[in-house]
Amino acid sequence: MPESLLEVQDLGIRFGGLHAVRDVTTHIPAGQITAIIGPNGAGKSTFFNLISGFYQPTSGSIRFDGEDITRLKTHEVVSRGIARTFQTTTIYKELSVLEGVMIGHRVRTRAGLFDALLYTARERRDQAASHAGAMRALERVGLAAQAHLPAGALTQEGQKRVGIAMALASDPKLLLLDEPAAGMNPEETVNLMALIRELVRGGLTVALVEHKMSLVMGLADGIVVLHHGQKIAQGTPQEVSRDPAVIEAYLGGHAHGGQMGNTGKVPAAAEGASHA
Ligand SMILES: Nc1ncnc2c1ncn2[C@@H]1O[C@H](COP(=O)(O)OP(=O)(O)OP(=O)(O)O)[C@@H](O)[C@H]1O
Ligand SMILES: [Mg+2]
Repeated sequence: MPESLLEVQDLGIRFGGLHAVRDVTTHIPAGQITAIIGPNGAGKSTFFNLISGFYQPTSGSIRFDGEDITRLKTHEVVSRGIARTFQTTTIYKELSVLEGVMIGHRVRTRAGLFDALLYTARERRDQAASHAGAMRALERVGLAAQAHLPAGALTQEGQKRVGIAMALASDPKLLLLDEPAAGMNPEETVNLMALIRELVRGGLTVALVEHKMSLVMGLADGIVVLHHGQKIAQGTPQEVSRDPAVIEAYLGGHAHGGQMGNTGKVPAAAEGASHA
């Protein structure tokens, strides 16, 4: 069995009375693609927000690469080697692709607005380093040739790649992708899958949240299923798709708009159900 890069133990967060993530114990093996699935509102994005330090857990612990990162701040988590994309990609459409990746990266790696304003020596050094890092990241996602185009000129898929490049600019070990294929057509989705595979071949570990089951089934080595904030299953795609608790979660409740239910097929029933 591959070594775990990330381990979470009894992880939870409450928002008032709502247990958005509850008692989740799981691991993400190094060098693999792990999919986090579950109906809308299951806690998938919240789980990523906890791992990446955007939210502080109200219970449990997170270990990454042998270190307890439970209480670390976002930029500290980034510096340890975890980067993420967001369910809704915010890119700066008027800026060039390259500038967008540089800014996106810098905003997340340091609290240096003060430096940026004063344009200190450190700022100038950082600028050069972040330019080089951003170009490398754009090469990895196949956008080096588009570096100087306005980001708004790219297709939806291109813009998603920019979001991935922003994350890669911090040179992570673990990349968290929140609905990377949302809004993509089937051809773009296939291209994205090829990109993710290539990144993993290059040594990256990937965890992704996705509703498109063709992507999940075609890409994931392992799947974690969340439902009402709790982990209800973890296993290979085959194991998970046969799991009675998973079938019940997808067909049983329609409290989340029923996007994943009603068709009698599980979990392929969720194909294309992304709501983004
Ligand atoms: N900052 C917050 N404050 C209050 N409630 C929140 C917050 N963030 C998430 N929640 C709630 O936690 C639950 C889980 O939300 P989350 O966004 O993690 O779901 P999800 O599985 O990513 O769903 P989707 O598939 O729709 O993206 C939801 O009920 C949501 O409203
Ligand atoms: Mg979400």
